[in-house]
Amino acid sequence: MHEFEQRLRIHHDELRWLYMELYNNGSMFYELVERLRGFYEERSADLKAIDRSREADPDWYRRNDLLGMMLYIDNFGGTINAVREKLDYIRKSNVNYIHLMPFLDTVPGRSDGGYAVKDFRKVQPKLGTMEDLEALTKDCHASGIQVCMDFVMNHTSEDHEWAVRARNGEGEYMSRYFFFDSWDIPGAYEKTVPQVFPTTAPGNFTWLSECGHHVMTTFYPYQWDLNYKNPRVFNEMMANFLYLANRGIDIIRIDAVPYIWKELGTQCRNLKQVHTIVRMMRMICEIVCPSVLLLGEVVMEPEKVVPYFGTVEKPECHMLYNVTTMATTWHTVATRDTTLLREQLDKVFALPKEYVFLNYLRCHDDIGWGLDYDSLRRFGIEERPHKAYLNNYFRGHDGLSNSMGELYNEDPVTGDARLCGTTASLCGLQAARMTEDAEAIDQSVDAIVMLHAYMFMQSGIPVLYSGDEIGQLNDDGYHNDPNKADDSRYLHRGKMDWAAAANADMVGTPENRIFTALSRLETLRAKENAFACAAHAATVDTGDRALLGLTRCLDGELLLGLFNFSDEPKTAETLASEGAYMDLMTGNKMHISRITVPAKGFFWLKRL
Ligand code: GLC
Repeated sequence: MHEFEQRLRIHHDELRWLYMELYNNGSMFYELVERLRGFYEERSADLKAIDRSREADPDWYRRNDLLGMMLYIDNFGGTINAVREKLDYIRKSNVNYIHLMPFLDTVPGRSDGGYAVKDFRKVQPKLGTMEDLEALTKDCHASGIQVCMDFVMNHTSEDHEWAVRARNGEGEYMSRYFFFDSWDIPGAYEKTVPQVFPTTAPGNFTWLSECGHHVMTTFYPYQWDLNYKNPRVFNEMMANFLYLANRGIDIIRIDAVPYIWKELGTQCRNLKQVHTIVRMMRMICEIVCPSVLLLGEVVMEPEKVVPYFGTVEKPECHMLYNVTTMATTWHTVATRDTTLLREQLDKVFALPKEYVFLNYLRCHDDIGWGLDYDSLRRFGIEERPHKAYLNNYFRGHDGLSNSMGELYNEDPVTGDARLCGTTASLCGLQAARMTEDAEAIDQSVDAIVMLHAYMFMQSGIPVLYSGDEIGQLNDDGYHNDPNKADDSRYLHRGKMDWAAAANADMVGTPENRIFTALSRLETLRAKENAFACAAHAATVDTGDRALLGLTRCLDGELLLGLFNFSDEPKTAETLASEGAYMDLMTGNKMHISRITVPAKGFFWLKRL
């Protein structure tokens, strides 16, 4: 039987069932299937070969050899072609998965960093063309590099053709968004729907005076929410999705996915219909382009995140951001107390090993302080003052801190705020370099390396934020750019500092010390099987709350990691695992009965 028919046959009944549950529209389902067939036919022979090899090796992304990097095309190289020319640097950084931050057509000044898409089938002209993108994905595949891009499915730009036609009063297009001619329904939504950007874009609706309607805009006013109750929206967006997959994209990040279904009287987040849609997307991938991975952007509390994996039998996303662990890591940096981090890691480690997390220290967005406050309350720590403490700490307002972060979306009503800044600037490198304080530089370099060593030891796929590999600092210049000044996330979205990157080859510079330490860690990680997702991971009691202990165990091999979050050396007293160990970084043999870890230092040990 034909390959497409075979794959369709596996999923047809469930796909049809779910589609009919949402839309009860057989002819639109028929149309969808015909379009899937069309995209299968259009898919190149090279991509189909990748599909087949990954179908035969479904664990291909669960091993220990993937290392990602998120980068902005313009910041990194200028254009797609320039990124192609810089693939050597990607390889030199041991990276074999690049996430190209949003690059589809958008309107400068109303782009939300590219997350307001004007045309899903066109690249921003200043970055290049679709042909350039295909050439880049081909080159990447030839070098064993996977390419990830965003699929911004919750909304379009107000300049997208559909939005323009809706604004002109064409009913067919108005029905693709949420249009209301009075405040009655929007007002009712506002009673239950929280705000994403309380300061930079308050409210969830925007008044369009020229056509006398309110339109739903959960994010910025120029990002119009799509109405997935309309099967036309689903079918067209799936066609856009497959069009992009066929350009050679390996990993598709589904942006803001919890928000895609709206119901009056709810928070309009994580509704069950969202899961129906994501499950359908997973089946659509498996039918047309089974090598493609779905990465869900679910920045929510843990009990909301995990359901986006679906079940082992009926999976949804292949990968999800380990967002609570990321935020808890920074909480640990500030407090030097690993108690909460241990609890968080224990929860993640208890999940089925099929679930793959994307681990990271920083990304293009703010840090939202989504911590487990119920747990913190047991220690007398309350949410509001604790967030204020963390925000003060990371702005360098606390005695122990030389961080240089900035607040993001400080909510005047709730007093809540989030935080921005690069890893290096949050770890004090910027302040230390400004004062040329050699000891402070050493301490922040140690902290940056230790945090990466700890992040690489979690289960899942580590992803670097471009520039972190050389300790790149904040970009304060955004304050002077009128298109960016209101959005402090641009603080950590600066241009790649290629002069600093050249220092990575100059022994003794901070860039060199960070880059070489990370390289060593990355090489070790790719070599040691116990870093694979299949390993049994656990936290261990070190007897000191500033000292985190992690183990990974696979096929009789045991790794032990010790990470000191304090500014003083700490000794682990109560490590259970007996035997002789080797320090992977140095090759030295060690006995672990009583081990002292330097301030902001770490050990990666392997049982001999
Ligand atoms: C995601 C992106 C963020 C963007 C938002 C709206 O959360 O990570 O940068 O502002 O979606 O598309």
